[in-house]
Amino acid sequence: MSDQFKALVLNQEGENFTRDIKSIDKKFLKDGNVKVKVHYSCLNYKDALILKNGARLVKDFPHIPGIDFSGVVEESSHKNFKSGDEVILTGWRVGEIYFGGYSQFANVNGDFLVKKPKNLDLRQSMILGTAGLTALMCSFTAKATREELLLGEKVENVIVSGASGGVGSMAVMMLSKLGCNVTAITGKDNNIDYLKSLGAKSVINTSEMTKDARPLDKGLWDGAVDTVGGKVLENILAQTKDGGIVSACGNAADIKINTTVMPFIIRGVKLWGINSVTASIKRRQFLWNEAGKLLDFGIIEKSIKEISLDEVINIYPKMLKGETSGRYLINLNK
Ligand SMILES: NC(=O)c1ccc[n+]([C@@H]2O[C@H](COP(=O)([O-])OP(=O)(O)OC[C@H]3O[C@@H](n4cnc5c(N)ncnc54)[C@H](OP(=O)(O)O)[C@@H]3O)[C@@H](O)[C@H]2O)c1
Repeated sequence: MSDQFKALVLNQEGENFTRDIKSIDKKFLKDGNVKVKVHYSCLNYKDALILKNGARLVKDFPHIPGIDFSGVVEESSHKNFKSGDEVILTGWRVGEIYFGGYSQFANVNGDFLVKKPKNLDLRQSMILGTAGLTALMCSFTAKATREELLLGEKVENVIVSGASGGVGSMAVMMLSKLGCNVTAITGKDNNIDYLKSLGAKSVINTSEMTKDARPLDKGLWDGAVDTVGGKVLENILAQTKDGGIVSACGNAADIKINTTVMPFIIRGVKLWGINSVTASIKRRQFLWNEAGKLLDFGIIEKSIKEISLDEVINIYPKMLKGETSGRYLINLNK
């Protein structure tokens, strides 16, 4: 590898928080038994929070953010990886307590890596990224966990909130490919056609899901994926039918929910928390192998904005204001 390479570096000195693209030396990278040449990373909501001010997740500065990446192993002393292997990294607090993927090279613990499945390329892997893995976890929970693990009724009608976001848009497509009738919730009416192109049968505005929820409303959904929390999740819980699983992964609207026990004790609704950060490697490898079957990249490509590391700095504030849609793919060689 060349000694100098490009990375986005965060720093905090007193009240002064900075984000700069820098040319850094390989000695700047910290420990890790696998060195990866990073090809792609992406911009997730958590990345945007970290880029703003470290989000209390980053404790040591200077710091390289980027919670996920795909790339090729350059050097390895880990038993499972060798030079030339194509790998995917998401979660494990990389980009928070460890240096992350907003860098042309990353040193990482090989225990965190997944081998890229053959039916995805490095670019497609990061079109998915953390959002895709989380959407896979949410979708399999809402659909397969109920049908196969709990031997429950068939999951037909499902609802997805924050539908034009990274996790939401992938969940819409995955659940639709899994054979569900998907209702997408979005605050952006100009995304209706896009959401239908992903497979949504119907689209409703977020404002319809932010009223004060009744303890039990008319049961409409066999399952749900919630990425926003707050009142939307309260209403989803009240509208979920007998035995339905609500996969909750996000808090884009609110961290609080004000609900009653009624959906849980009268309808047996399950509120199923999703955390992709520490999912086991075994589960990740299974889900990544399924991913290629559940996505139509021809359609997703239309919503992908491929950006350089430099452009990230202008885009993350818009994501925090809920003004972005689809996926931002970061090409480290752009
Ligand atoms: N648990 C995990 O393992 C895990 C992993 C990844 C992400 N997450 C979390 O999942 C959430 C979504 O992540 P993401 O990367 O998909 O983010 P994103 O791309 O920014 O999407 C979030 C979407 O939520 C909707 N939204 C934003 N603000 C809202 C508000 N105030 N009220 C209602 N809806 C709002 C918007 O959808 P519309 O434009 O369609 O309205 C937005 O596109 C975040 O909270 C993130 O931290 C959790």
